[in-house]
Amino acid sequence: MIGLENISKKYTRGSRTFEVFSNYDLKVNRNELLVLSGRSGSGKSTLLALLGGYLKADEGKAFFDGIDLSSQKDAELSHLHTERIGYLPQSNVMVSELTVLENVMLKSLISGDPSDSEKALLLLDLFGIGDLADRFPHELSGGELRRVSLARLFLSDPDLYLVDEPSGGLDKEATRIVMDYLKERVNDGKTVVVATHDDIVKEYADRILEI
Ligand SMILES: Nc1ncnc2c1ncn2[C@@H]1O[C@H](COP(=O)(O)OP(=O)(O)OP(=O)(O)O)[C@@H](O)[C@H]1O
Ligand SMILES: [Mg+2]
Repeated sequence: MIGLENISKKYTRGSRTFEVFSNYDLKVNRNELLVLSGRSGSGKSTLLALLGGYLKADEGKAFFDGIDLSSQKDAELSHLHTERIGYLPQSNVMVSELTVLENVMLKSLISGDPSDSEKALLLLDLFGIGDLADRFPHELSGGELRRVSLARLFLSDPDLYLVDEPSGGLDKEATRIVMDYLKERVNDGKTVVVATHDDIVKEYADRILEI
């Protein structure tokens, strides 16, 4: 199973604590595209990070494929993050010294296997930014950077996609290309959870969960 069981999560700032979730359960079905919706600050990004074990809950468990992420050792968790769980944070993370293409291929550069450059270029082409492959991140617009982040996620092709605001900075056409691609992954047997405010993204949902 993929999901959260009896999760509680507080944030602490100085002497003040703020509880975002208390005894919260969430079950994600295999092969579904689940959309997390809700007002700003409702906890969508927090839920995505908890689901992938990128953020630790104060109480409760996060499961991926029956594995209790909260009890995994760092090395095991990072192996899962490399091989099976893919996470697109709400803001873009780029290595400024690397080109766009290298940023897409980050995981394979780290592991010393650059064999997927062709697929990386195809993904950049699919998103209409193939001609930007040799540029550096500071030379790109916000929407272009979003597409680079998405291409990196899609290149890693995880079993579980956790996607925080995929359409940030994208126009309608680009949003549809991205969501069509995610829907195809679900048809391939993958699981996708997306946090969004975007009505176009919601059109692609198998289920919408209001947070
Ligand atoms: N690191 C943090 N420290 C303190 N409070 C935090 C932290 N991260 C999030 N919060 C608070 O937790 C609540 C949930 O935040 P979260 O980012 O999960 O919301 P969201 O639904 O993703 O919002 P948005 O739609 O604006 O992206 C918010 O009230 C936010 O202020
Ligand atoms: Mg958010």
